[in-house]
Amino acid sequence: MEKKTYYITTPIYYPSDKLHIGHSYTTVAADALARFKRLTGYDVWFLTGTDEHGQKIQRQAEKRGHSPQQMVDEIVDWIKDLWAKLYISYNDFIRTTEPRHKEAVQNIFARFYENGDIYKSKYEGWYCTPCESFWLERQMEEEKCPDCGRDLEMVSEESYFFRMSKYAEKLRQHIEDNPDFILPPSRKNEMINNFIEPGLEDLCVSRTTFEWGIKVPFDPDHVIYVWLDALSNYITALGYDSDDEKFKKYWPADVHLIGKEIVRFHTIYWPIFLMALDLPLPQKVFGHGWLILEEGKMSKSKGNVVDPLLLVDRYGTDAIRYYLLREISFGADGVFSIESLVQRINYDLANDLGNLVSRALTMIERYFHGELPGSGISDEIDEELKQVALKIPAKMELLMNELQISSALAELWELVRQCNRYVDQTAPWDLFKSNDHTSRERLKTVMYNLAEGIRFIGVLLQPFMPATSQKIFHQLNINEQDSLLSWESLGDWGAIFPGHIMQREEDLFPRLNLNTEIKWSSDGEEGEEQDEESTTDVSNEQVSLEDFNKLDLRVGKIISAEKVPQADKLLCVKVELQEEQVKQMVAGIAAYYSPEELKGKYVVVVVNLPPVKLKGIKSEGMLLAASDKSGKLSLITPDADIPLGSKIT
Ligand code: MSP
Repeated sequence: MEKKTYYITTPIYYPSDKLHIGHSYTTVAADALARFKRLTGYDVWFLTGTDEHGQKIQRQAEKRGHSPQQMVDEIVDWIKDLWAKLYISYNDFIRTTEPRHKEAVQNIFARFYENGDIYKSKYEGWYCTPCESFWLERQMEEEKCPDCGRDLEMVSEESYFFRMSKYAEKLRQHIEDNPDFILPPSRKNEMINNFIEPGLEDLCVSRTTFEWGIKVPFDPDHVIYVWLDALSNYITALGYDSDDEKFKKYWPADVHLIGKEIVRFHTIYWPIFLMALDLPLPQKVFGHGWLILEEGKMSKSKGNVVDPLLLVDRYGTDAIRYYLLREISFGADGVFSIESLVQRINYDLANDLGNLVSRALTMIERYFHGELPGSGISDEIDEELKQVALKIPAKMELLMNELQISSALAELWELVRQCNRYVDQTAPWDLFKSNDHTSRERLKTVMYNLAEGIRFIGVLLQPFMPATSQKIFHQLNINEQDSLLSWESLGDWGAIFPGHIMQREEDLFPRLNLNTEIKWSSDGEEGEEQDEESTTDVSNEQVSLEDFNKLDLRVGKIISAEKVPQADKLLCVKVELQEEQVKQMVAGIAAYYSPEELKGKYVVVVVNLPPVKLKGIKSEGMLLAASDKSGKLSLITPDADIPLGSKIT
């Protein structure tokens, strides 16, 4: 049977400068989706590339004293190297300066003209060169670009225009009939209300005041507007207009994955161009959120923290991939910080995943000389693990189809945690010590199930962290056996067979010291390795009892908790201190507690601190928590039932 096809694209990036971690996010996300689809049996075509024409590129090259071609060639090499380091498994990389693209775009332009979709006139209006975007007076704010906030330029030149209005109604109908066309749905409303509803103006599709672009075939003083040129890449790369079978096979695209700032180009201009060519529209245009820094928008000038190559060199590709895919949730913005990166690496990767693999392999080595035993005596607890494992693949597939990559990873981590719980609950070390026949038979089952659980994790991890799953397979000694690495092998529990010789290798993810990493990120220097003891050392400095008594510490109960928007570390909690007395506090505990698990928890709070505002939210007290060397927090709670408001003395 022929495989179903899946065509996924990233935006084509401007090679006007090196890319930062935000650009890498889109490409890594598309790669995870492409790999996931391949794993689940699709014939995938994954396209990325570079958008090399236009005024922005020409000006940047002039600034550098290079020709545009020389500049883009250099940067494209750098970009390809970056994608290789991030394990990007693209099938094709299109450059808009390639003849295959240029010729096809000229033909597209000529067809528009012949069909009467394009006419010649004069453009007089505003232009944002960094965004390569035209703006109307009513759309702009004080001569600034409404998208990027930079200065607009007044442009006055002869141009060709595309009759957008001719297709406006058809487009609106399409958007309304296909609720999955623009995702997430909030972006769809924005497009209809802000752009289609007020009426689509005809679009200027050629320029005459600079040279660096594809020439209009029948009027070479004009270069084709760079967005028409760029958007066409999604079909020219498949060989539209040539004999290439790829176009028939893969078009229309299943997903154009893009950042939210270019949704307008992809859901208004692009579908209209496709309608004019009489081609089907892409299934989905997904505008994901941005990765931002705590201090605001990301840019290359922000140093180490945004340089994907430096990050990969320091933390490894898979850690960076995991962080990007896990940290930004479906469609929303996410804050990039070294703290949250280190937390993800230490907790999710070193503690949860790394520990599981090293514990299991160490035990198989120690108890069975590395030879995986067959199952012996079973228990109910085994069934629980099995059931969790068998359900996860379908749940992940559903989420990946909805592009909820972060939630899919959260599902996978349910399995990682379930395996860790299984180790704690079965306590294999006690079974080993007991050394009677029953314990021995039980121990065999526990080790077998653990190895099988880890195999499930390895298979499911492939699209997200390809090198780590290879390392896991290597330790399980199944890296050559395709059937054990396949999606189909997750249909039943028990595919891994006994007798396998396994070998523990080095830890998958070493734990990091937060202070060292913060120092590295802020000044680029090798941070001083903190004295491991210093953060937990008991202080010699004394305070008087009087000073201590100044603090009003009370027992309270959390009655609600919710995430603070734009601040992934913070939760806003409401604490009841006495009947009718509730105080609101903003606490940096989001990495360690979910809002749901906090509800009903008894805590200790300082209630006589002056109120402060955190991220615009009033905080009237402080929750007490213990912190370990890495900064991990554990809330302090009373040991026995005690009335709310009780004083800590
Ligand atoms: N060349 C156009 C796209 C043409 S597509 C036919 C362009 N290029 S770009 O180099 O500016 O890249 C923009 C894309 O990079 C965004 O759409 C987004 O996918 C990604 N990102 C750039 N900065 C980003 C963040 N800070 N966070 C997440 N993604 C970011 O626009």
